[in-house]
Amino acid sequence: MAEWVEKTKNILELQGIYKDFEGLQVLFDVNLGVQEGERHAIIGPNGAGKSTLFNLITGKYRPSRGRIFLKDETVTGVNPFKLNRMGMARSFQITNIFRTMTVFENVRNAILSKNKIRYNMFSRLSGMDEINRQTEKVLHEIGLLERKDNIAGELSYGQQRALEIGLTIATNPELILLDEPTAGMSSEETREAVKLIQRVTEGKTLIIVEHDMEVVFSIADRVSVLYYGKVLACGLPGEIRNDQRVKDAYLGEERK
Ligand SMILES: Nc1ncnc2c1ncn2[C@@H]1O[C@H](COP(=O)(O)OP(=O)(O)OP(=O)(O)O)[C@@H](O)[C@H]1O
Ligand SMILES: [Mg+2]
Repeated sequence: MAEWVEKTKNILELQGIYKDFEGLQVLFDVNLGVQEGERHAIIGPNGAGKSTLFNLITGKYRPSRGRIFLKDETVTGVNPFKLNRMGMARSFQITNIFRTMTVFENVRNAILSKNKIRYNMFSRLSGMDEINRQTEKVLHEIGLLERKDNIAGELSYGQQRALEIGLTIATNPELILLDEPTAGMSSEETREAVKLIQRVTEGKTLIIVEHDMEVVFSIADRVSVLYYGKVLACGLPGEIRNDQRVKDAYLGEERK
């Protein structure tokens, strides 16, 4: 892990975020600043509101109250497609790959969808060559180049999750959000996934929701703890590990 250097520039900022679903209050006054270039983990028990927070950041849902800034621009209520074009991409807790397409087609589609507006340019042969080249580069980064012609649904579970990460980074985002990328993995698959995540997020900003504390503490520069819809603590991994409130609320608990 690179040494943490305090910077002041936030690539993403959440101010006073509330979210309720028809009366069910899920997030309460969440304030969160994610600095450019950091790897920021969000931890917390099941149902704390972590995925909901991702859904608000990525524009799937609108906050009931509060404001979201991306690179100093207000993006509250901006749709996921536009946010993607502004440099944000996410993976899903439940995988988002097209199981009946090949590995190659999955990644190429992700690249094409970002470039939709420039479709005419890419429909030319030279444009398509460029897309294919980019696709192979992503496949190489996620270690699936040799599997490019396999049907995605036939990959091992760990490989499918790697492909999911590939779809997320395919559009070359500055800000990457991963929701429980190692969920359900064996310890060997988890070790590989950690290396992969470190590699593909080099020089970018990462927000990761993760239950596995070993993964959190090996990847994150900073950690925020979400507990019943509130940010209970935010700090360096060592600070979070030793925070008595965090231990009482979460780290002391048995994992699910
Ligand atoms: N679209 C929705 N409609 C209604 N309730 C929702 C919706 N999305 C989430 N919730 C509720 O919000 C609460 C927080 O859910 P969320 O999925 O954000 O938790 P989480 O921290 O990601 O949990 P987990 O660790 O299990 O993934 C839960 O009570 C959930 O049932
Ligand atoms: Mg979740």
